[in-house]
Amino acid sequence: MALVHLNDMLNHAYRHNYALGAFGVVDLRFLSGIMQAAENCRAPVVLNLIEAHFCHYDFELLMPAVLAAAKRAAVPVAINFDHGSSHEHAGRAIRAGCNGVMVDTSMLPFSDNLWQTRELVNIAHACGVTVEGELGYVPGVTGESAKLHPGELSYTSAAEAAGFVARTGVDSLAVSIGTVHGRMKGMPKLDYNRLAKIHEATSIPLVIHGGTGLSDEQYRKLISHGVAKINYYTALAEVAARSVREQCAADRKADYGNLPDHVSEVVRVETERCMRLWGAGGRAAEVLAQCKPWAEVRHLTLFNISSAIAENEIPVLLGETVAAIEMRPGVRRVHIAKTDQARYSLMVDFSSREAMNNHRKLGKELSLHQKLLMNNMEDTLSLELQTQ
Ligand code: 13P
Repeated sequence: MALVHLNDMLNHAYRHNYALGAFGVVDLRFLSGIMQAAENCRAPVVLNLIEAHFCHYDFELLMPAVLAAAKRAAVPVAINFDHGSSHEHAGRAIRAGCNGVMVDTSMLPFSDNLWQTRELVNIAHACGVTVEGELGYVPGVTGESAKLHPGELSYTSAAEAAGFVARTGVDSLAVSIGTVHGRMKGMPKLDYNRLAKIHEATSIPLVIHGGTGLSDEQYRKLISHGVAKINYYTALAEVAARSVREQCAADRKADYGNLPDHVSEVVRVETERCMRLWGAGGRAAEVLAQCKPWAEVRHLTLFNISSAIAENEIPVLLGETVAAIEMRPGVRRVHIAKTDQARYSLMVDFSSREAMNNHRKLGKELSLHQKLLMNNMEDTLSLELQTQ
């Protein structure tokens, strides 16, 4: 069980001057290549699920595999939802098992970005989920040539960053200092002076988007100025696509199943290179010892139904109760069953202990009808789930 709190992992990297890689996962071959790299070099790793890629795969179908890979790993893993388009989608990601979220409102005016991010922090922190804000705008589309999406780069201002971090309560901040998403022609020019000022003004882990295509020296300098996470996808997509093309060229009659045979391996090699270069290699044991484990929690409540409720009203009220609980942040599954003549059990699976505690606070807001329904409630037990 090697899922850990992303915030703890970020702070460990920040304090010890190395950067976590947040590697974009688009299928099982990427997932196994990235996990193999992390195991080989004993590195903590962030599995990054980028909303713009959901057109390539079914997020809800892939997530159980991502969770299973994280849980069976011997190295520490966190799962991040990246560039979400709405708070609703972030809620969906938390429900599916992500323990870090980023909703990209960086293109909005400063105050709108601030309020939206602050609202996300309220929702996510109630579930113990880490939030990344972004200030300034990093243009481009991950996985594509940056030339295709020239969008205007807007640099992060250090003065704004300090206020943004203090007023939103974000755990980490993505900054715009010259990188772009996707592959740039030529080497990006990075504004280290600006980065140093942001670092000094914020004192929280900084994040670089558009990690592809920098020199070894550039990565080192970023890390020395407080960068604790580097988002990386395009270079992995490039080596994967090249290996499929080569396989195709080598055997023009190759079976469909054989075309991506080497994808996991080339993704592993490139991921491992980054982990070692960014200083994450060999850190797994200390991270596991110092970071809180992230575990789902199952909570069971037994209750009687008040005699004031007519028999025919019960199914409707039970359905409403389930629907109301399912809406709460971090609730993964709800199940009500009759245990004997008089008693019912309500079983709720939460993405974390924090989500369960939040739900119990919100329990006081049940409607009068629902309270009558759940007469004589007893909290019976809560257990941490080790498996799905
Ligand atoms: P690259 O695709 O440029 O590596 O960037 C990935 C990224 O920033 C995802 O958020």
